[in-house]
Amino acid sequence: MNLTAAPHVPDHVDPALVVDWDYQRDEKLSQDPYARYAEWIAAAPAEVVWTTANGGHWMIMRNAAIVDALQSPELFSSKHTAIPPRAGSIKLIPEELDPPEHTKYRSILNRRLGPKMMKFFDARTRHLANALIDAVQTDREADLMDALTIPMPCSLFLEMVGLSTDRTREFVGWKDELFKGGDAERAAAQAKIVGMLEETIADKRVNPGEFDLMSFLIHEGRVDDKPISQEDLMSYGFLFFIAGLDTVTSLMTSCFAYIAQRPGTQERLLAEPRSIPDFVEEMLRRYSVVNPVRTATQDFNWRGVRVRKDDQFVCSTVIADLDPAEFSDPLKVDVERAENRHLGFGGGPHRCVGSHLARTELMATLQEVLPRLPNLRIKPGAQLTYTPGSLLGLASLPVAWDD
Ligand code: HEM
Repeated sequence: MNLTAAPHVPDHVDPALVVDWDYQRDEKLSQDPYARYAEWIAAAPAEVVWTTANGGHWMIMRNAAIVDALQSPELFSSKHTAIPPRAGSIKLIPEELDPPEHTKYRSILNRRLGPKMMKFFDARTRHLANALIDAVQTDREADLMDALTIPMPCSLFLEMVGLSTDRTREFVGWKDELFKGGDAERAAAQAKIVGMLEETIADKRVNPGEFDLMSFLIHEGRVDDKPISQEDLMSYGFLFFIAGLDTVTSLMTSCFAYIAQRPGTQERLLAEPRSIPDFVEEMLRRYSVVNPVRTATQDFNWRGVRVRKDDQFVCSTVIADLDPAEFSDPLKVDVERAENRHLGFGGGPHRCVGSHLARTELMATLQEVLPRLPNLRIKPGAQLTYTPGSLLGLASLPVAWDD
């Protein structure tokens, strides 16, 4: 007798579209999530499929359809960023708002995170990257995630909200509890981050910093012609914590892992520093990180499927960037792709507001670190594995280098 109940599939879903792919927990994801996603893309029975995993939701399997969904917030709301929706989390501004509300909160950030500010962040990144490498360079081996790619964006986040980088390690601990802990740990980490943000906001109200984002939002930010409320300042701060740390860590780790596994790549990038931006762009495509989620605002028919209000969709940037209809030989890293219109930073109104900052961090770190770790390679015998979850990233990066 089979005691396993068949997963429930809602009546409005065509049985021909049903799969059981779990983009959060599938066991093959820890070996090579990109190969696994490529298998799903190849096996998809249609451009939009229904998976029975995670309580049941849609997965969009083609680049063009993902772009369409991300650009149609009137049908695809950003009100939940998790599948299934998570209760009790702080509202993320502007990520969980839809236009026109979203636009008011987003445009303030564009002013502070646009290209003009990048000179400042470039200089800070170079300084922080060198300080982190100073601490390990003579060891000739390290887990590069512990040594560099985790603390780097954390330190920059601290500077961005106007706090001392002395607290980086403490913050890394909170971040791990928040992203990887169980419910109790997550709640405790959230409480600590909230406490830190409250302290920072109180301090910056009376002691504004010259460059930090929090001082800017407090003293210059306006929504509907009013100063930004305390509650909204907290939401902004919390989103920066969530959006700008693991994403950069993941991409930066992928860059160093790729280089460490392919002899000659480091030398080529050093000999031709002008190729670093193209390299970073191709890594943003090939090793995309984020799986944005959208929720149907109403019942509608779309690309051959019947959608019901509150159905959830994964609009994966990984799937979009590995779609062979958009990128030939998508698993290959090809820095000379003629058109690299990747979706690594998403698309539509929520396209990453930190994209300039992320690119600056990635390029400046590579430029500073590659000359300091000659003959960078994976430590003999080490196996690279990925942490399963909705955001893709390596679990560790054990490397060695020469004097
Ligand atoms: C390589 C690093 C990064 C990647 C791959 C990345 C990717 C993304 C993606 C795909 C989205 C869209 C999410 C959606 O549509 O729901 C997004 C949004 C966002 N990102 Fe990034 N991000 C990165 C770095 C950063 C950094 C450094 C910051 C910090 C300033 C940041 C802040 C944000 C914010 C605030 C949003 C929400 C924007 C909105 O809702 O209008 N990101 N990011």
